[in-house]
Amino acid sequence: MQKRVVVTGVAGFVGSNLAKDLLDRGNTVIGIDNLTFGTIENVDPRVDFHHEDIRDRDIYLLLRAADAVFHLGAMSWLADCMARPIEAAHVNTVGTLNVLEAARRANVPKFVYADTSAEYEGIDNFPTPEDKVQPIGIYAASKHAGAAFCNSYRALYSMNITIVRYFNVYGPAQDWRRVVPPVMSSFILRMLRGERPIIYGTGEKRRDFVYVDDVNEFNRRIMDDPRSNGRVFNVGTGVNYSVNEVYQLIEEKLQTGLKPIFKQDLPGEAQVSLADVSAARELGWEPKVDIHDGLNRTVRYLREKVLQAEESGAARPAH
Ligand SMILES: NC(=O)c1ccc[n+]([C@@H]2O[C@H](COP(=O)([O-])OP(=O)(O)OC[C@H]3O[C@@H](n4cnc5c(N)ncnc54)[C@H](O)[C@@H]3O)[C@@H](O)[C@H]2O)c1
Repeated sequence: MQKRVVVTGVAGFVGSNLAKDLLDRGNTVIGIDNLTFGTIENVDPRVDFHHEDIRDRDIYLLLRAADAVFHLGAMSWLADCMARPIEAAHVNTVGTLNVLEAARRANVPKFVYADTSAEYEGIDNFPTPEDKVQPIGIYAASKHAGAAFCNSYRALYSMNITIVRYFNVYGPAQDWRRVVPPVMSSFILRMLRGERPIIYGTGEKRRDFVYVDDVNEFNRRIMDDPRSNGRVFNVGTGVNYSVNEVYQLIEEKLQTGLKPIFKQDLPGEAQVSLADVSAARELGWEPKVDIHDGLNRTVRYLREKVLQAEESGAARPAH
């Protein structure tokens, strides 16, 4: 059945991909973003776009008659959150509370909260199931507090809320403009430009990388599957790679001969992430795009959309 879906953070990486995926399947998407991190170029022209802040009380008006809300709007970068902790709490915690309150007032039948694998920062049990969390950093704590409010609204108002803990999502539209961009797009772009990739730390941190199309598919599934109501799901692959291995895989594809530059480690990151995805699998979901395919698709996107735009002078500087 076609639905009317609100996506907050629609100009960001995951939100813009989700919106496109929902629209391609005939749904209507109402998008909210204040464009602090996302860009309007990411937003599909079919989205009914509203340049609003998730902390604005009036967003309730945009949620009326919605069948579902995907709340993805956030300050999603660890470094930004550490540099501006009060703002991180305002956006990720108070912002989430405001979207929850809007959804309650508007009687939205389904609410999905984008939580994070950073919830497991202090947990040493791999693959990690959903049952225990130990957030440490500012980003993790602010997202954790948002999730706590989701639990309150579920308990107090019987709202249908699903919490999804994304692991390291990658793919097209991931923000390559940031000062420290995510590894995949950072390595690929630098190597395509003939520059040496930068690795922070030893490169031995391991991450569970999940391709954005698989995340879209999971999001679509939970929108329609009542078995997901009131539950928490890891969204990863159950396989992890070190940053050095990611560099190797990209180098095998691009054959640049460029060796990484190692810089001082970034603080506040977990050493290992690896998802136990049994709960998501029980809903019939399976990650389909392996790292080779995912990297090929990401290389194609960055070549076509970013490098060609840069050559024509259309790309924006880093923010
Ligand atoms: N990408 C990942 O690997 C990953 C992993 C775990 C969790 N998540 C979560 O998934 C969600 C989406 O992540 P992403 O990678 O797309 O991040 P992103 O930074 O690309 O997108 C977030 C969007 O939220 C918008 N935003 C920020 N503050 C806002 C505000 N006050 N009002 C309105 N809009 C605001 C930004 O402009 C941006 O477009 C976030 O909630 C993030 O915490 C992402």
